[in-house]
Amino acid sequence: MNLDLDGKVAIVGGASQGIGYGIARTLAQDGARVAITARREADLKRAAETITAETGAEVLPIPADCRRFEDCSRAVAEVIQRFGRIDVLVNNDGAPPLGAIESLDDTAWHKAVEQNFMYVVRMARAVLPHMKASGGGSILNIAAISAIQPIAGFGLSVATWAGVIAYAKTLSLEVAPYGINVNTICPGYIETGRLKKVFAAGGEDPQTMHDKLVAEVPMGRLGSTDDIAGLVALLVSKRGGYITGTSIPVDGGLLRGVR
Ligand SMILES: NC(=O)c1ccc[n+]([C@@H]2O[C@H](COP(=O)([O-])OP(=O)(O)OC[C@H]3O[C@@H](n4cnc5c(N)ncnc54)[C@H](OP(=O)(O)O)[C@@H]3O)[C@@H](O)[C@H]2O)c1
Repeated sequence: MNLDLDGKVAIVGGASQGIGYGIARTLAQDGARVAITARREADLKRAAETITAETGAEVLPIPADCRRFEDCSRAVAEVIQRFGRIDVLVNNDGAPPLGAIESLDDTAWHKAVEQNFMYVVRMARAVLPHMKASGGGSILNIAAISAIQPIAGFGLSVATWAGVIAYAKTLSLEVAPYGINVNTICPGYIETGRLKKVFAAGGEDPQTMHDKLVAEVPMGRLGSTDDIAGLVALLVSKRGGYITGTSIPVDGGLLRGVR
């Protein structure tokens, strides 16, 4: 389905690989011009070139560390300078380390808050004046299913993303009159480099880990980056414009509960 994003400009975080890359490629396929950010410049440029080669879309790579205030402001300024507008903001990046809550010191918590929470706050604050000026827009946060159904050892992510969901809900109320929708997507197990690293960290054979995760998912498979990207494209298009203030699992049925 092509959701007709012609003329729209998107900025997608953590888009040199994985979920962010999949989102950037889908938005480009659907007609958007896209700016992508990540820290490692060479990988980021390669990703931009590949998306352009595949889709013909204009893709602007902006090396940036989402934990830094200056990088967030600079990234938004570069998008405005190049494209003159921002219609779509997708907040996505890596994630804080794993660890039992009792073992985490203040430094670990501060870093997690900068990465998962303040990143979202700063990017939204920087893009909102531009979205309001052009009459609307979409803000999407990529969190995780663990923010709704916590997993032991993921405390830094769970707590900070739960804050993001509450922040996004509040923001959605404030910006709805300007035609801006704000939503959070909560992926389950998505096949990316990051998931492979998590397999490896457990010390267990990767195939055994893979099979264990698959066995947890009612749909019987891990998710793909396209499973996430398809929902992003819908939510930022006209067809999804009435959906706001939600947190949506994309998890093959992994979430056990009624909300
Ligand atoms: N994969 C899953 O199963 C899954 C499930 C639920 C939630 N999630 C969440 O979804 C997000 C993306 O996951 P993924 O699997 O796509 O990860 P990934 O394959 O490791 O990709 C992460 C991307 O973010 C960039 N990044 C990391 N730290 C950054 C920083 N400080 N500033 C800017 N960019 C940064 C990376 O590039 P650089 O390293 O060059 O910066 C890379 O482009 C993460 O927050 C993850 O926790 C993933």
